[in-house]
Amino acid sequence: MTGTGIGFGKTILIGEHFVVYGFPAIAAGLSQKTICRIENAAQFELADKRPETPGYKREKFEQQKKSHELIFAKLGIDPQKTPFRMTLEGDLVAASGVGASAADCVSVARALNEHFELGLNDDEINETGFEGEKGYHGTPSGIDNSVSTFGGTIWFRKGTPPLIERIRTDLKLYLVITNTGKTSDTQAVVGDVKKLREKKPEWFDGVLKQYERIATDGRRALETNDLKLLAQQMNGNHKLLQQITVSNSQLDQIVETATNSGALAAKMTGTGRGGLAIALCKNSDSAAKVASDIQKKLGFLTETTMISGR
Ligand code: MEV
Repeated sequence: MTGTGIGFGKTILIGEHFVVYGFPAIAAGLSQKTICRIENAAQFELADKRPETPGYKREKFEQQKKSHELIFAKLGIDPQKTPFRMTLEGDLVAASGVGASAADCVSVARALNEHFELGLNDDEINETGFEGEKGYHGTPSGIDNSVSTFGGTIWFRKGTPPLIERIRTDLKLYLVITNTGKTSDTQAVVGDVKKLREKKPEWFDGVLKQYERIATDGRRALETNDLKLLAQQMNGNHKLLQQITVSNSQLDQIVETATNSGALAAKMTGTGRGGLAIALCKNSDSAAKVASDIQKKLGFLTETTMISGR
């Protein structure tokens, strides 16, 4: 028997961290994905062949092990009793900020579903991915596994069950994704934000209020095909992320360089304090220029991509 499954990479357009506090966020699936292949073997084996930012897989190894164990337990699978070889590959570069952990979990859930003929539907795959994400980052909001399962552009609010709505837009989003090359620890960064909130509750509530507006206007911008309004919300979102201390000097430099070279908006995306930044550009020529300026001036790796919302 063999089983194969995929999990999409993702980018958060609006709302990382704020989503942890029950506020809505907007994320989009990338075409890049992780693929998991499972085949019978004499003993359990994992071959992690995903391309990576140097050091990522080593740094995440223990979390990944825990994550896979949680998935096996959730699905009632004992790899000692029914051993298999699990291979992870695909074109999604394992790095912080791109939903690599969620894509790992979702691809594994899908491959196990096929291999063991479990008959799970997409909602159940998503729940299994969510369980796996707990191994990587303790108390995930669920946004990453949701977009990794369903793809597309989604409006997400955490909960049991979470609210997941597809956002339709005619906009074509030309994005430059820049990788700082620094792996970040989501559990630690989310924990620091929690401490900040406990220390300054009233101030934090004020930030959350400002954020709520950004999320609603961001959704409206997509649904009314208003690129300028979307850009304003993404820029505003980055400022709030700076205030809650999850950006860092590298991410801020990328944002500044992208803006100076003509991007409509730029922000960190995902956990922050490393990982990735995204820049929204008006067309592919502008995206190529922004990418080349970032590479020349800052030396970071960039990738350009286009997201369409239909
Ligand atoms: C990480 O991609 C997004 C965070 O908001 C954490 C989460 O939502 O679980 C930082």
